[in-house]
Amino acid sequence: MLIKKPRLGELPASEITEYGVYLNRRQFLNSAAIAATASMLPLSFARGDSTPEPTYKELVKSAYSTEESLTTFESVTTYNNFYEFGTDKASPALMATEFPDKAKPWRVTIDGECDKPGEYDYDDLIKPFSLEERIYRLRCVEGWSMVIPWVGFPLADLIKKAQPNSRAKFVEFTTLNDPEQMPGLNRNVLDWPYVEGLRIDEAMNPLTLISVGLYGNELLGQNGAPIRLVVPWKYGFKSIKSIVRIRFVENMPRSAWMKAGPNEYGFYSNVNPDVDHPRWSQGRERRIGEFLKRKTEMFNGYGEQVAQMYTGMDLRKYF
Ligand code: MTE
Repeated sequence: MLIKKPRLGELPASEITEYGVYLNRRQFLNSAAIAATASMLPLSFARGDSTPEPTYKELVKSAYSTEESLTTFESVTTYNNFYEFGTDKASPALMATEFPDKAKPWRVTIDGECDKPGEYDYDDLIKPFSLEERIYRLRCVEGWSMVIPWVGFPLADLIKKAQPNSRAKFVEFTTLNDPEQMPGLNRNVLDWPYVEGLRIDEAMNPLTLISVGLYGNELLGQNGAPIRLVVPWKYGFKSIKSIVRIRFVENMPRSAWMKAGPNEYGFYSNVNPDVDHPRWSQGRERRIGEFLKRKTEMFNGYGEQVAQMYTGMDLRKYF
C-alpha cells in the first residue's frame, strides 16, 4: 500500500492545532485528568502553574539575549512540535514523559570530516563547556513564535574540539530513531530519522546554540532532551531535537523536511517575511500568549549577527 506522506501544511487541521483550540482542549484535558487523578499527583503538577526553581545555578547571562517577555514555562513545555511523539501540539508533552530515561546513557557520535571524531556519553560531551542562559525568539514555520530562556553553549565550541578538516562544508545532525521510545516513528509522516543540517559557517556562528535546558532546568523530553540545536534566525524545524549524531560532510545534507516537501522546505529556511511558504504567508506571526499577530522580522530579528553570511545570495532561490 502506498502511503502518502503528509507535509507540514498538509496535515489535517486536527493535527496542526490552532493555539486557541489547543488551549481549550488542554483545559478540558487538564480538568479531566486532574479530576481523575488529583489524589495521586504532586501539588505543583495539579496546579499546572509552576515554573520550576532553576537547578542550573549561576548561568552566564548572554549578551545575545532578547529582553522581550518570556513565553510561559507552561506553554513552552506543552505546545510543541516533536513528530517522533505525534504530530499534534499536545502529544509530545503527553507522550514523552518517560523520555529519554530508557535511552540513558545517551550517546552522541561526532564523526565525518574531522580530525577528532568520537563517541561520547552525554555528561562527558557537555562537561568541557560552560553553560549560559540565552533568551532567544523561536519562530515556527507554521506562524507562531515563542521567547525561551535556553540553557546551552555555542555549537562553535564543540566544533572547534572536533577539528573539522577542509572538506567539512556542512554539518549534519540526526535525532534518535527508536520506535520503542518514540511512538510517532511508527507513522510514516516523515522519512525517519529526523535529519537537519547547517552550512559550516552557520554552525560556527556565535548565535548557534547547543541547548541542554530551558528555564534553568534540564530539557524535558518534549523539548528535545537531553541535547538539541537552537538556530534562532531560522524556522523552528531547523532546531533539531534529541541529537545522537553530529557529522561533518562535504555535500549539503538533505533534511527530513526537504525530502518531504522540496518546494516548501529549503535547506536554508532563514526566517524571511518576504518569501512566503507556497501555501501561506510568512509576513506575520502570533507570539504564543498574545492575541494580536505581529510582523515577522527578517532573520527573526537577528540580521545584525547573521545577514553577512548570505551576502550576494538570492534568498528566494536559496529559501
Ligand atoms: N526535531 C525533531 N527531531 N522532530 C521534530 O518534529 N520539530 C521542529 C523542531 N525540532 C522537530 C524537531 C519544529 S517544527 C519546531 S517549531 C521546533 O522543534 C519546536 O521546538 P519546541 O517544541 O521546543 O518549541
